[in-house]
Amino acid sequence: MRLFAALLPPPEALDELAGALAPHLDDWPDLRWLTRDNWHLTLSFFGEVPDRALPRLSVRLARAACRYPPVTLSFTGAGAFPSARRGRVVWYGLAGPVGRLTKLAASLAAGARRAGATQVDEKPFRPHLSVARARAEVDVRPLVSALAAFEGMFWDAPEVHLVRSHLGARVRYETVESWPLGGTTRGGG
Ligand code: 2AM
Repeated sequence: MRLFAALLPPPEALDELAGALAPHLDDWPDLRWLTRDNWHLTLSFFGEVPDRALPRLSVRLARAACRYPPVTLSFTGAGAFPSARRGRVVWYGLAGPVGRLTKLAASLAAGARRAGATQVDEKPFRPHLSVARARAEVDVRPLVSALAAFEGMFWDAPEVHLVRSHLGARVRYETVESWPLGGTTRGGG
């Protein structure tokens, strides 16, 4: 199954993002806005993971999560991949202990690899929450500039979630398992 590890921001933090985006929704016909129910902050993308690797994956991710304390984050600013001039993905940025988040993301990726996941995304971790995609490049500089001053509330991320991605006409995400940051593990594999 197609899996990734993510933080799921609380509804109040997402409300603020949605509020800041609302005035722009009708101005960008070439962007596909992502469903708010699907918004998440990816820590590490594992790709297709064989079912038989799941028990090991669970142990490894639990272990990685317990090594890092909970984080307090806020959304701030916006940007686009690969660039605002040639935007394919529009996102909000993050402020907070990004160094620690980067280490957590690397630990989760390493754990997944050790558990037998062979498609783990190797791109450097860039914390972001995607809100729109485009089939072809769109110059989203005006949108990114309009959102650049955004500074959201602080929110706590107490847990890491293992999320399954169901592809299709409407992508659906399903949390398979969650582990507290800084929690305890029951050991094993
Ligand atoms: P994105 O938001 O920047 O597109 C589920 O696909 C989640 O995993 C998305 O949040 C996506 O990030 C992220 N992701 C990271 N690397 C990916 C990859 N190689 N393929 C698909 N999704 C990836």
